[in-house]
Amino acid sequence: MIKKFSSSLLFLFAAGFVFAQQNTITVNTTDAKYTINKNIYGHFAEHLGHCIYGGFYVGDTSSIPNTNGVRNDIIAALKKLQIPNLRWPGGCFADTYHWKDGIGPKDKRPSMVNKWWGGVTEDNSFGTHDFLNMCELLGAEPYLSGNVGSGTVQELADWVQYTNFKGKSPMSDLRKQNGRAEPWKVKLWGIGNEAWGCGGNMKPEYYADEYRKYVTFIADWENTGGLMRIASGASDADYNWTETLMKNIPLNMLGGVAMHHYSVLDWNKKGSAVEFSEEQYFGIMKQALLMEELVTKHAAIMDKYDPQQKIALVVDEWGGWYDVENGTNPGFLYQQNTIRDAMIAGVTLNIFNNHANRVRVANLAQCVNVLQAVILTNKEKMILTPTYHVMEMYKVHQNATLLPLTITSNDYILDGQKLPAISSSASKDSTGTIHISLVNIDPTHAQKITLNIGTEKLSGTTGRILTSKKLQDYNSFADPEKIKPAIFKDFALDKNTITITLPATSVVVLTVK
Ligand code: AHR
Repeated sequence: MIKKFSSSLLFLFAAGFVFAQQNTITVNTTDAKYTINKNIYGHFAEHLGHCIYGGFYVGDTSSIPNTNGVRNDIIAALKKLQIPNLRWPGGCFADTYHWKDGIGPKDKRPSMVNKWWGGVTEDNSFGTHDFLNMCELLGAEPYLSGNVGSGTVQELADWVQYTNFKGKSPMSDLRKQNGRAEPWKVKLWGIGNEAWGCGGNMKPEYYADEYRKYVTFIADWENTGGLMRIASGASDADYNWTETLMKNIPLNMLGGVAMHHYSVLDWNKKGSAVEFSEEQYFGIMKQALLMEELVTKHAAIMDKYDPQQKIALVVDEWGGWYDVENGTNPGFLYQQNTIRDAMIAGVTLNIFNNHANRVRVANLAQCVNVLQAVILTNKEKMILTPTYHVMEMYKVHQNATLLPLTITSNDYILDGQKLPAISSSASKDSTGTIHISLVNIDPTHAQKITLNIGTEKLSGTTGRILTSKKLQDYNSFADPEKIKPAIFKDFALDKNTITITLPATSVVVLTVK
């Protein structure tokens, strides 16, 4: 008898058994106030490792199909994501970058040494025109990070005039001479990056003054509706940084205040991207879920100075950070991407959606071949990571109206520590279709959820799922489609209630009419 009991228990464990207690989610369809800004789904491309050179950019003489040197397969993949904006050229690199070195005939451009990332020499062949024309191909808004750390006010003011001034001026003449008649009308401008660290090791009071000085000289030449000038923001829980900026910078000089948060176990012992224990997995999930507290607390400080919530919280770097892949340059930050990273993406994007009132721009670090990349390349080959698939599944939320929800979640418990197993967000698009994204981070238990959506009778539901058997599974160049979205049907609809069972470690997006 005992034997029989224990073997059926074993079976339940192996199958990822369903927790007895019910999770509930109630979606409020009438109290919809905020738009989920599509720019929450932004990406980041730094001159770092093989993100730009050997990633996006292979040069126009490459045998890899390209448009003006940019890989066509990457362009197609990012268009499918509806990539809304792309941040460039850094990162730490931005505060060493002198944009005038990257314009004009490529063979005349000076080289530079990338101080932060591997000390490699770059030939500046990918510059302002290359980036902004690429953004046009992608249909993405460019987000330029200006050099405050080692640049000058004049240099940044000139960059704005070069990219944005239509009439006759020294910089627009230079742009025309370099083959571009019309301005690109770049709206998103970062005033330095990580000014507290690689951007100049400044104190917040000093940076606030620098910021005020820089933005004084940055004009909206083409009346684009207002440039969005973004202050270099806090690292993680440095609330004093946000408080000091909000206190010392007049609101009419600010479009956004940035914040960076990476999901990392320990900066000195990050652990492998593909070989990790459940304890390490739990630690990374804890870091990813910390985003909720960080966003809430930074936003609360902003509310004190900006009660009308005009200024955006811009999370322009986020994602998982592990040790580099064995045998790769430690300065290139190349890492693989498992279903663990899909969990980070799923819960983080739910947090951003749910804070749509304040978080209006965010950038996953980074787009290609660096950190939590959506795309990895190896010579002519390209693969899409699990993180890519989450971004693709969640694109339905872009510019949709946030539907607030309340969640009662089971705990994911490991060694007496607890995290909520379920994360979710919901929105209604312009056609009236509702999308609900759901994540179960628990690697052993499926979760049964009762989902109440408004009060009206619903007519139909479809679903897509991303999951994998093992936490450590990833897409490789040998097996590029090991993890990809599939149709999901494990739910039942009754009037306005959906009962759904989310498998262990899964991301599901439901479409409800
Ligand atoms: O994304 C990698 C680096 O992380 C960026 O260059 C920097 O801003 C951050 O510290």
